[in-house]
Amino acid sequence: MREIGIGIIGVGVVGSSVVKILQKNRDIISARTGANFVVRRGVVSDLSKKREVDIELSDKVEDIISDPNIQIVIELMGGVDKAYDIACRVLEAGKSLVTANKAMLAYHRYDLEARAKGNAIGFEASVCGGIPVIKALKDGLGANHILSISGILNGTSNYILTRMIKENADFDSALKDAQQKGYAEKDPTLDINGMDAGHKLLILASLAYGIDAHPEDIIIDGITGIELSDIVFAKEFGYVVKLLGIANKCGEEIELRVHPALVKCEEMIAKVDGVMNAVSVVGDCVGEMLYYGAGAGGDATASAVISDLIEIAREKSSSMLGFDGRNIVHRLMPKEKISSRYYIRLRTYDKAGVLAKVSSIFSSNDISIQVLLQPETRDGVAELLFITHLSMESKVINALKEIEMQDFVAKKTFFIRIQD
Ligand SMILES: NC(=O)c1ccc[n+]([C@@H]2O[C@H](COP(=O)([O-])OP(=O)(O)OC[C@H]3O[C@@H](n4cnc5c(N)ncnc54)[C@H](OP(=O)(O)O)[C@@H]3O)[C@@H](O)[C@H]2O)c1
Repeated sequence: MREIGIGIIGVGVVGSSVVKILQKNRDIISARTGANFVVRRGVVSDLSKKREVDIELSDKVEDIISDPNIQIVIELMGGVDKAYDIACRVLEAGKSLVTANKAMLAYHRYDLEARAKGNAIGFEASVCGGIPVIKALKDGLGANHILSISGILNGTSNYILTRMIKENADFDSALKDAQQKGYAEKDPTLDINGMDAGHKLLILASLAYGIDAHPEDIIIDGITGIELSDIVFAKEFGYVVKLLGIANKCGEEIELRVHPALVKCEEMIAKVDGVMNAVSVVGDCVGEMLYYGAGAGGDATASAVISDLIEIAREKSSSMLGFDGRNIVHRLMPKEKISSRYYIRLRTYDKAGVLAKVSSIFSSNDISIQVLLQPETRDGVAELLFITHLSMESKVINALKEIEMQDFVAKKTFFIRIQD
């Protein structure tokens, strides 16, 4: 049987699982490919650490890049610049590259595609761990115009929101619980500020629409400002709050955004709880498809990494991001053109005339109110909760700025977009 030499740069959680699964499932993997994957070497930063797997290790990337018996390099070290530099050297050396590194791809996927020069690049593990959504968009749904994508792309934030919704936990205790259970990193910033989901949405947007954008080009809001009162209000009106990565095709413009959203309880995506991930894709031919499963974890992510090895062994060749580059008509919709319905929370001192002033600011910004709720005033501070009709994002932001300049405002205003 033909042997394919593998080098793994980064033998941590995912890298170790890759080694173990290649051994455990050797029979089925070689039956599917006619090839035997042999891990020749791993690279780590600290050679003195105790490892779960027994492979030859080095702390020099060059030992893998220059090895003529390694045909595929798997990058599992994380980070952006250093990982990109290594990925370029792997391709220059004429080797195939497999990566799970969404942060690097959020910035460098088009640079890598340009540098591939016939070498395969697999990145199935970069979005939603074990869920094969990359191959679904690139191949399975290739006949469709993708009308929309909405995804729960980050398990940590979904776990926190689920605990808030189901158990009335407040944000801080839900985050602490996620850290204790190992669902959140010690530093959970990229998970809770929406950036991790943003990286993944950008990768999906390239596959669905050929959009070349970076995180700074799109709206990325996280879940940190959400309070229990928002969750309770949402429930009362038949919604749950989910952190969504959203892509909508509006003619030739593509709207891309990541933010918490009020989602109707009966929607499929609203029922995805805990650390699970899901991506709802609407194609013009197939209708709605829901891809659901484990979005992280060593084995689930390694399953996706090995699916790329299998594809490379079968020698199917297609461009990395699935377009031939010449006929893409889509372009990114400017952020200020985005419109939505909004849930808005204001906290004001309990004074006469506040509601009249707020209403007049909304009205002068063309924002009309569908629902207003005023729960009980506490310690002289009144809470005003609104749901707007469809409004331009730029006008909502203007209105909230104007409201915040008023002397009756007790706390920074907060809003959540509604996913219709
Ligand atoms: N974990 C998941 O569930 C998951 C899911 C989807 C995607 N991913 C992505 O997969 C990648 C790996 O994640 P992971 O969770 O496996 O990370 P990890 O457990 O932290 O492992 C990282 C590995 O890379 C090595 N490394 C780091 N910097 C290095 C350097 N400069 N030179 C050489 N080796 C270096 C580390 O060496 P030492 O062992 O010596 O420290 C470690 O072996 C990341 O891009 C991540 O975003 C992870």
